Amino acid sequence: MWGKDLRDVDADVYDALENERQRQEREGLELIASENFVPEPVLEAQGSVLTNKYAEGYPGSRYYAGCQHHDAVEDVARERAAELFNADHVNVQPHSGSQANFAAYFSVIEAGDRVLGPVLAHGGHLTHGHGINFSGTLFDFDQYAIDEDSERFEADHIVAKAKEHDPELIVCGYSAYPREIPFDAFREAAEETGATLMADIAHVAGLVAAGVHENPFPEWDIVTTTTHKTLRGARGGMIMCREELAKQVDKAVFPFSQGGPLMHQVAAKAVSFGLAQRPDFADYQQQIVANAQALAEGLQEHGFRLVSGGTDNHLVLADMTSKDMTGKEAEQVLEAAGIVVNKNMIPYDERPPMVTSGIRIGTPALTTRGMEESAFRYIAELIHQAIDGHDPERVQEEVQELCDEYPLYENEEPERTEVVQQ
Ligand SMILES: Cc1ncc(COP(=O)(O)O)c(C=O)c1O
Repeated sequence: MWGKDLRDVDADVYDALENERQRQEREGLELIASENFVPEPVLEAQGSVLTNKYAEGYPGSRYYAGCQHHDAVEDVARERAAELFNADHVNVQPHSGSQANFAAYFSVIEAGDRVLGPVLAHGGHLTHGHGINFSGTLFDFDQYAIDEDSERFEADHIVAKAKEHDPELIVCGYSAYPREIPFDAFREAAEETGATLMADIAHVAGLVAAGVHENPFPEWDIVTTTTHKTLRGARGGMIMCREELAKQVDKAVFPFSQGGPLMHQVAAKAVSFGLAQRPDFADYQQQIVANAQALAEGLQEHGFRLVSGGTDNHLVLADMTSKDMTGKEAEQVLEAAGIVVNKNMIPYDERPPMVTSGIRIGTPALTTRGMEESAFRYIAELIHQAIDGHDPERVQEEVQELCDEYPLYENEEPERTEVVQQ
């Protein structure tokens, strides 16, 4: 009818996909802390016929006929996630982490209610109450901050802030915090105020699933996550909760905030959860942290100041003022050398978000490629050389060699297509 191969049907998209595959595999070191490389079976499920069907509703209770196989897939995804995180109930339908947070809020609070969340520039996410996001517009947010000396979230400040704002909901979980989330501090704040507790573990979900980071369950009320960061799954979101909240959560996802679920994504989430249940996933998560610590030590040896002095998880936050550079400049210099990181605000940053004083560097993606501590110490050396202006072409060659040494989707020979400027 229209031909079977993407290459024949749509050369424009095919070329872009092949070029991106080439970029990921051969052209740079992927150190964005929120990214990862999914296994091939996850890609296969994402590209499956499940995309063809509407499955509004939940397993056993759909608005459309013919959903029996979708039910099977969604049940498997929910069961596996519940086991992985020790959760009573799971909703795997949120299209993204932001959608998950939107639905999670509306399952436990109403518009106008008081919420306590982190300062965005101290590691929080836009959906944790920022004014340019729905969260800051629809709810009455107040923010707790990182301690200026320890550069960590401290219990006394969190409890004091909670008493002051008397929130209905307290949110923790971060996009750029290199330390363990202090769940105890938030439990104490919730006990003092009677607030509901929500953790957004988008960044550390893989570590939590593997027991490398404390799990908020069984004590917590509601936990959201993305499925594509350390968890190494299909792109999307997920909400987990105590049994008492199950109905409210499901209603807040559909019909309140979403229509038909992306069932090909749900299938791919199920596949990644299955892979996360295998013993080697725990080894992978431990390696992510060991690699981040090796990277941190290497950078510190080269005079980089790290926020909070190191890391407990998958990322480090480097204060580039220690190298007389802005985050933006550092991001650009490193990208030119094939080292991909992102500029990031550091706590009490005086520069605006599009400039920043920091860079965030994460280890999940390159750990998936098989790199261990020695490779990350070497990457610290390459970062140092690029930032200090040593021969950029040589750094780029070293990056290339590392990519070749640690192949990614090695079974398929990528085909490079020249991009023709028009
Ligand atoms: C802590 C946290 N929550 C939520 C999100 C939002 O996820 P998404 O980009 O899938 O909407 C992110 C994304 O980076 C995040 O870091």
